[in-house]
Amino acid sequence: MCGIVGIVGRHPVSQRLLEALERLEYRGYDSAGIATISEGTLERCRAQGKLVNLEMRLERQPLNGMIGIGHTRWATHGAPTERNAHPHIVDGIAVVHNGIIENFAELKAELEATGADFETSTDSEVVAHLLAKFCREGMSGQEAMHAMLKRLRGAFSLAILLQNEPSTIMVARYGPPLVVGHGDGEMFLGSDAIALAPLTNEVTYLVDGDWAVISKTDIRIFDSEGNVVTRSRCTSMASADRVTKGDYEHFMEKEIYEQPEVIAHALAHYLDIADHRAASLSTRMDFANASSLVISACGTAYLAGLIGKYWFERYARLSVEIDVASEFRYRDIPLSAHAAALFISQSGETADTLASMRYCKAHGLKVGAVVNTSESTIAREADAIFPILAGPEIGVASTKAFTCQLAVLATLAISAGKARGTITEEEERQLVKSLVEMPRVMRQVLRNIRPKMQLLSQELSGFPHVLYLGRGTSFPLAMEGALKLKEISYIHAEGYAAGELKHGPIALVDKNMPVIIIAPHDRFFDKTVSNMQEVAARGGRVILLTDESGAASCNLDTMHTIVLPDVEEIIAPIIFSLPLQLLAYYVAVTKGTDVDQPRNLAKSVTVE
Ligand code: G6P
Repeated sequence: MCGIVGIVGRHPVSQRLLEALERLEYRGYDSAGIATISEGTLERCRAQGKLVNLEMRLERQPLNGMIGIGHTRWATHGAPTERNAHPHIVDGIAVVHNGIIENFAELKAELEATGADFETSTDSEVVAHLLAKFCREGMSGQEAMHAMLKRLRGAFSLAILLQNEPSTIMVARYGPPLVVGHGDGEMFLGSDAIALAPLTNEVTYLVDGDWAVISKTDIRIFDSEGNVVTRSRCTSMASADRVTKGDYEHFMEKEIYEQPEVIAHALAHYLDIADHRAASLSTRMDFANASSLVISACGTAYLAGLIGKYWFERYARLSVEIDVASEFRYRDIPLSAHAAALFISQSGETADTLASMRYCKAHGLKVGAVVNTSESTIAREADAIFPILAGPEIGVASTKAFTCQLAVLATLAISAGKARGTITEEEERQLVKSLVEMPRVMRQVLRNIRPKMQLLSQELSGFPHVLYLGRGTSFPLAMEGALKLKEISYIHAEGYAAGELKHGPIALVDKNMPVIIIAPHDRFFDKTVSNMQEVAARGGRVILLTDESGAASCNLDTMHTIVLPDVEEIIAPIIFSLPLQLLAYYVAVTKGTDVDQPRNLAKSVTVE
C-alpha cells in the first residue's frame, strides 16, 4: 500500500502532484506529503491524516518548483503522525517509499553507529540515510542508488529527489508496482496508471528489480545488476474521469446499488444471453484436462473464491485446493503441473496473491487472474485474464467487486463443467438462465429490503458482537457478512459454519448475542434451522435471512426475518450478499463511522 507520485516537469508540479495523490488515496490515508525542488532548494509539506489536510496546508504554505515527488501513507512501521509522514529528508535527499524494508533494523543500527540521527520510527528513513552516506563518500546519485539497492531487503518501490541533481527523479521497483508516464517534455511516475491518467496515457511499466533515472524527456532503466534495459511503452486504458458519488451519500452505497447494472455487464461478457449458453473458455484455460484447481486470494476476494470452490466441485467435478494467499505462498504445497490455478484480486496488486500466483507459475501451472484492474501486475503476469468488469470500486469495503467476482466464478464453473462433460446441455441452459435473470432479482431485492435493513441496523448497532452462520455456500457468505460488518462498523463479528456452532461459538450465545442465520430454502435448510433452534433455546437473538419458501416452512420466533425471493441455488450467494452489505452499511451510518475509508484499512495491500 501507500501511493507514490512524481513529476519532472516544464510547469509547476505541486498542484498536479496533489491531484495525482487524490487518485491514489485508496492506497492509504494515514498521512500525505510532497517535496519539490525550487531554486535549487528542497522544500517539503506534510500533514497527518487524509489528503485534504495536506491540501489545506499547501494553501497556507505553497510549494514551488517544477520537479517533485508525493506520497500517501498506509502506516506499517511507525505511527501515522506528521513526523513519520513521507517524504523523508536527509542531507538534501528526499525519499518516498511504498512497501517494507525488512532489514531496516540492522541497517538503522549500522547507520546510527556511524553517527546518523534518525528522526522517525519508520523503516523508510534508512533509505534516505543510506543514500546520504554513499553521496558523502563521493558517489553520484546514480552510483549511490545502485549501491543502496544492493543493501535493501524486502518488497518496496521508491522515488527519490536529490537537491544536488535537481533535474532528475530516481525510482526503483522491487515488488509494488511503478508506472512511468511519458508527457510532452515532461515525465510522470505513479503507483498505478490511474494516478497518471489526466496527465498522460503513454506509459512504461517497470518490471520487478528495475530502477531508473527519469529526466524531463528521458528515462534510463537499469536492472538490479545495473545493466541498461529497455521496457516497452504502451497506451494505458485507465480513464481520467473522476468517479463521483452521484446522488449517494457514500461510494459504498452507490457501489451496492449499482450491482445489478455492473453484473449484467460482466455476465454479457461470459454468457451467450440469447441462447442461454456459457462461453467456451478452452483457449484461455484448459479446464477439461485439469487434474484439479488451485484458488488463492485475500480478504473478500478469498471468500468469493471459497464460494467458487463449491461451484467448481459441484458443477465441474474439479477438486479445489484453496487458501488465503498469505498462507498459500509459504505452505510448500505439492502442486501438480496439470492443475489449473485461479487468483482473484479486485486491485490485481495484492502482494500475497501476486506471490502465490508466481509460485504456481514457477511450478509449471497455467494461471488465470480474476481481476477488476486489467492493467494490474497480476493481470499482466497471468497466462489468462478473466476481468470482472465491475468498474472502479472506491469504497474500501468491497461490494460490487465481490458479487462480480462471484458472477465470473459461477460462469467459469459452468464453462468448466461443460468442457469436462460434467453438466448436460440442459443443465447448462438452466444455470445460465438463472444467471441471466439475476440482475432483475437483485434490483427487486435492493428496492424492497432497504427499510427493513435500516430498521435492523439501528437495533444491531448497539451490540458489541454479532455471529453469522451458514451452510454450503452460505458459510463463506456468513464470513463475508461478518467481515463487512467489522470492517466498517468496528463491531466484532464472526462468520461460522452453522454445523460448527456447537463446537465452540455456542458458548457465547445469550440474550446479548445477535445471530444472523443465512438460510435459503436449499438442501441444507432443515439442518440450518436445527442450528437456529439451538441458538433460540439459549436465548440468542435470531435474525433469519431466508427466502419465501424458507419463511413459509419455519415458524420459529425470530428477532427479525428478512425474506428474499425464491431463487435457484447457484445465484443465492449473490442475492443473499445484498442484505448483508446493506446491513453493514446502515450499521456504519448509524454509528457515524467513516464508511468509505474505515480506520486502519486500505483498498490495495501491496505489502505482505
Ligand atoms: C484489502 C481490502 C479488501 C480486499 C482485500 C484483497 O484488505 O480492504 O476489500 O478484499 O484487500 O484485495 P484484492 O484487491 O486483492 O481483491
